[in-house]
Amino acid sequence: RDPPSAMGEQEVVREELGNLHGIPLYKSFIEGWPQVEAFQARPDDLLISTYPKSGTTWLSEILDMIYHDGDVEKCRRDAIFNRVPFLEMKMAGLPSGVELLEKAPSPRLVKTHLPVQLLPTSFWDKDCKIIYVARNPKDVVISYYYFYQMAKMHPDPGTLGEFLDTFMAGKVAYGSWYEHVQGWWKKKKEKKLLYLFYEDMKKDPRQEVQKILQFLGKEVAEETVGRILHHTSFQEMKKNPAANYETLPTAVMDHSLSPFLRKGVSGDWKNHFTVAQNECFDQQYWEHMAGSDLHLQMEV
Ligand code: A3P
Repeated sequence: RDPPSAMGEQEVVREELGNLHGIPLYKSFIEGWPQVEAFQARPDDLLISTYPKSGTTWLSEILDMIYHDGDVEKCRRDAIFNRVPFLEMKMAGLPSGVELLEKAPSPRLVKTHLPVQLLPTSFWDKDCKIIYVARNPKDVVISYYYFYQMAKMHPDPGTLGEFLDTFMAGKVAYGSWYEHVQGWWKKKKEKKLLYLFYEDMKKDPRQEVQKILQFLGKEVAEETVGRILHHTSFQEMKKNPAANYETLPTAVMDHSLSPFLRKGVSGDWKNHFTVAQNECFDQQYWEHMAGSDLHLQMEV
């Protein structure tokens, strides 16, 4: 057994996902849904929205650094899941996302994985700024497969082949990747939404940080940008306990099965997909993305 932890020591039991308005989701999150739906956004909230495993934590760390003018020590003040609360999160023994957010001073950074149609309406009413990150689905499914193994609130993922089927059927937590990325992509046409790509962040992180600064209307010294880029590099974040989720009890996430910051590259799917799996995946991809002006890069 794991030693007792300061953060609540409830044993997390793997269980099947529930269903929230047609979206597969953890049952404990569904229990907390009334509080999420009634959530009161503030006009200066910044929402970080992603499909799981798309670079949420990376973008969160970048934004917290921007909000603290590149002060590394301030960004070590607490774990990332407390600095950037996860809106719909509810788990026994841990404060819920809504509870953390209600106590958080403005301006708040808010994380969500909700599909666009389920976002609490208050974010639209208050016209909050939103940054979305998308990552190519082949790398997402591989990252998600390892995450299912290490994060115990998930059902058993089975073999990679089985998990690919589950993902392609839209039966993983948060449902169809296609609907998620396209739903948020369409919102971009009418709302204050910056739509980023993990692959662009890998290719040219400086340029993407500049885009974020421009979107936020913030000016930052060149030296500060350099500090932000260094502190939010994969290598730095991987060894930073405030960013790498290692402060959670092993009962919740077991990093010995797979670290949260696992590889941090684009194109790792090539080390996992068989030729047949890739063909099958490509076919579904083109069926779903045909006619869309949303394009993902499968590697960089
Ligand atoms: P891999 O499993 O492919 O390594 P999320 O935060 O949305 O759950 O996404 C997690 C993924 O983002 C993991 O991908 C993780 O390694 C990667 N990641 C986290 N921080 C990163 C960084 N600074 N640079 C590149 N990738 C990062």
